[in-house]
Amino acid sequence: QKYFLVLILSCNPFFLKGTADTNYNTPFPSNFLFGTASSSYQFEGAYLSYGKGLSNWDVFTHEPGNVVDGSNGDIAVDHYHQYLEDLGFMDDIGVNSYRFSISWARILPKGRFGTVNRAGINHYNKLINALLLKGIEPFVTLAHFDIPQEIEDRYGAWLSPEIQKDFKYYADVCFKAFGDRVKYWVTFNEPNVGVIRSYRSGVFPPARCSGSFGNCSSGDSEKEPFIAAHNKILCHAAAVHLYRTKYQKRHGGSIGIVMNAVWYEPISDSMEDKQAVARAQAFYMNWFLDPIILGRYPTEMQEILGSNLPAFSKNEVKKLKNGLDFLGINHYSSFYIKDCMFSSCDQGPGISKTEGFAFRTAQRDGLFIGKPTTVDWLYVYPQGMEKIVMYLKERYNNIPMYITENGLGEVEHQNSTIEGLLNDVKRVDYMSSYLHALGTAMRNGADVRGYFAWSLLDNFEWTDGYTIRFGLCHVDYSSLKRTPKLSATWYKDYIAKNRRAA
Ligand code: NOJ
Repeated sequence: QKYFLVLILSCNPFFLKGTADTNYNTPFPSNFLFGTASSSYQFEGAYLSYGKGLSNWDVFTHEPGNVVDGSNGDIAVDHYHQYLEDLGFMDDIGVNSYRFSISWARILPKGRFGTVNRAGINHYNKLINALLLKGIEPFVTLAHFDIPQEIEDRYGAWLSPEIQKDFKYYADVCFKAFGDRVKYWVTFNEPNVGVIRSYRSGVFPPARCSGSFGNCSSGDSEKEPFIAAHNKILCHAAAVHLYRTKYQKRHGGSIGIVMNAVWYEPISDSMEDKQAVARAQAFYMNWFLDPIILGRYPTEMQEILGSNLPAFSKNEVKKLKNGLDFLGINHYSSFYIKDCMFSSCDQGPGISKTEGFAFRTAQRDGLFIGKPTTVDWLYVYPQGMEKIVMYLKERYNNIPMYITENGLGEVEHQNSTIEGLLNDVKRVDYMSSYLHALGTAMRNGADVRGYFAWSLLDNFEWTDGYTIRFGLCHVDYSSLKRTPKLSATWYKDYIAKNRRAA
């Protein structure tokens, strides 16, 4: 009789519907990746152990004055040693993917001029295997800002086409060592932010800039960012070409790039402000995406930069085009944009003379696009998530996308208490509203396949050192103890409710 009842219930369409009903309206498909993200320099520590070479960030953070709190990533959150414990947190949250980056200098301490560090390979093998054992897909970035210092010292890294040989060599070592198990590859994390900060404002190594852009002792902000970007684009193309011709068929994985994507909203409906928005996106995101997907730089850049914009040869264009299996998007914030090409803007930060627009003017006028936060570049505007995803869907022919980072930073101050940091209601509000907006874009046809929270743990926030916390888990930087925040519990619950059964 008991079996009979089970049979009736399980054959009853209403019963079946009832069980699935708990998440019947979720926009996320069953194979959607829910994950958390990290990067080698911000997380690992173990900075000169087990054969790792010096990276550009090791050198930069050790020079006084470069990081607000004088800190560095020597220890960071010691993820190198504590990855198993951290994996336990991921497992408990219920993620099915983990985005991390490989430290180039840990694999090739001297770039292609030295040998492969076996200890480095072993480390990532252990991490990857441990993830797979728990059913967590590795989502791997090859370069997340940190590169071997050797490459910088020998030939000036991104400023030389020589770097294509090094990047391709490094990518080959990684594909060969890990490609049988890693199915998601990212060549670069935020190459746009990287070149702007390294060669325009000069706040990231090698700290080159000129003119009104920043306070550097060398560099040329009018030219170098575009040369560095050009070389990064060609490095990306070389790695993709290598992956597709040598590994993809055998391993069946996919390869993409991760861009920092800001939603720019015109401050008025005027044609001038709308064109300024187009210029802003051209000089930020489309700068990389147009060449990689369409095989040419955005027209706005060509018009404004003229011969300062490097050109691709015919052969390069062939290799470049359709150079993405997917697009990774790091999205956090939105800004108003005001035209400064046809009308005048006040002087001050946020004005980009070359491109003829100003951003953050809204902030100066006392108007905000969204809710300000304790982080100066971060405004809570969830609609920005929906809009940027729809914009990219339209511009790039419904390319598959992953939200490779999204999250809320909180500046720690004298009055911060551990209770306050753990009870991160604002982060929960932020994530739930951004995920909701993402769902709307997906319901409207955007092919989004994953979402990664930045970040699993509080960690080293580049030039802001340890002053800004982004973690779902709090890290006590003296004991390195991890404690899940409210947002970790919330994310766990969210994933459970929104994951469709396969
Ligand atoms: C983007 C970067 O990829 C990551 O390294 C950084 O910590 C977060 N944004 C937060 O700023």
